[in-house]
Amino acid sequence: MKYRLSEKARQILNHLSTMKRPLSASSIAKSLGLKDETVRSLLRSLRQRKLIEDKETTRIEFYQLTPEGQHFATKGLPEIRLVKLLAKQGDEGSVESIAKEKVLKPSEQTLALGWARQNKWISVSERDGHTWMKLMSNATEAIKQHPLQLALESAEESGLLQLDDVKFEKKDLRRIQNTLRKRKLAELVSRQTITVSITSKGHQALKAALTDEELIRDLSPDLLKSESWKDQDFMPYNLRAPTSPLYPGKKHPFVEFIDRLKRVLIGLGFQEAKGPLVEIEFWNNDALFMPQDHVAREVHDAYQIKTPKGPGRIIDESALKRVAKTHENGWTTGSTGWRYPYSFDIARRLVMRSQTTSVSMRFLSKHKKPPITMFSIDRNFRPEKFDATHSAEFIQIEGIIGSKDLTLRDLMGYIKAIAKGVGVEKLKFKPGFFPFTEPSVESFIFIPELGWREFGGSGIFRPEVTLPFGIDFPVLAWGLGADRLAMAALGIGDIRELATRNLGQLRKASMRF
Ligand code: PHE
Repeated sequence: MKYRLSEKARQILNHLSTMKRPLSASSIAKSLGLKDETVRSLLRSLRQRKLIEDKETTRIEFYQLTPEGQHFATKGLPEIRLVKLLAKQGDEGSVESIAKEKVLKPSEQTLALGWARQNKWISVSERDGHTWMKLMSNATEAIKQHPLQLALESAEESGLLQLDDVKFEKKDLRRIQNTLRKRKLAELVSRQTITVSITSKGHQALKAALTDEELIRDLSPDLLKSESWKDQDFMPYNLRAPTSPLYPGKKHPFVEFIDRLKRVLIGLGFQEAKGPLVEIEFWNNDALFMPQDHVAREVHDAYQIKTPKGPGRIIDESALKRVAKTHENGWTTGSTGWRYPYSFDIARRLVMRSQTTSVSMRFLSKHKKPPITMFSIDRNFRPEKFDATHSAEFIQIEGIIGSKDLTLRDLMGYIKAIAKGVGVEKLKFKPGFFPFTEPSVESFIFIPELGWREFGGSGIFRPEVTLPFGIDFPVLAWGLGADRLAMAALGIGDIRELATRNLGQLRKASMRF
């Protein structure tokens, strides 16, 4: 019986035969200096040919870096960065002088100080009302080849830390393991691996195998002409050989999601518009018929701007006057207005934009002929407490469409089409209230991980909003939560994960649409 063995397959059989015990793929790979995935695919074909067999399965343990661990792997542990900073400042520095360098984030400064002190790298004293840190003599030496830092760095690329891959002394090893756990830099995970051993058929093969040189790898013109291929064997292809996963560079899933959304809207015939992040209250609120000094203004709060102090400039003075009159007495819109003295100073105050509806108003003031179709997907800011579904900065999918015969049904249809464009079909509508629309509709989407969540507001702009800009036909408007939609589309239960930098997670992320 003839056996064909590739050079590497022969090496593996040989290794198993001399070691005389079952071995795991990764240990074979390490001993022979081959790649893990190469060995795995060779083992697979050897197993199919019954030259090796599976023995027991064993668990191997390794650590997976947390986002913080990953960060320190790249940037260095904060206490090490602190020592380097102090060394640069002549071995001593005050807490303020360190903070000024901006090498450490405020949260990291506390960590760095605590750990450097515990490691006895620095001594801390109070002088002239300042806290001073002084390097101890061993510190600069201790941070070179620092075991924990080395361990983290060895895992920087894959996010996986296999401690037996890095050569450490026993006592260091124990300390690293404890610290990783205590500081939540990595989590212990375990995986099953199987070991294989050589069969008797494998031993035979090893003795009788043809070498690679005796097999034809490439069919050459000579081989064809001489017909000598007829008496020789071909090296077989192993088309089933598993390959290792490839992680090519790709966009962050949230960026990809926003790109996709834009394509959906462009596909629906909308044109993209942009507006400033620092906005005057006129566009953020007044033009939207939100009274200047009234609870209705507090539908949401906006951040005021300290510098520059303003006031901002309103170019179209006549539009400003019409809006002012509309607020005071309804102007010619048929409304009674809010009945208060309008302040031009408030109108010019600067805020961080709290809604991209301001972009819609800027657009409307320049595009007055139907049909009007515009969208803007951009950032807004509101003072909010940070939690799983709220962030002080959020992205809205804003849009308007204005034309003679539009109705509320069209509005709901557009919102559905936008969500459907990214694969989200579970949607509900309820009546709502906004000072600038009548009727108003609130929509809800289903986030598998959280249940039904508010998706955004919409409605038909009131005449008090459109008439001052010379628009006398219905304008449908909406402002939807891009973050919420992304959570539903990407299967994410926590808004903070949208901006994740966890490599493992990013590599696995896939679009559901
Ligand atoms: N701007 C509103 C918000 O941020 C949403 C909205 C937009 C409502 C357009 C109606 C029309 O809550």
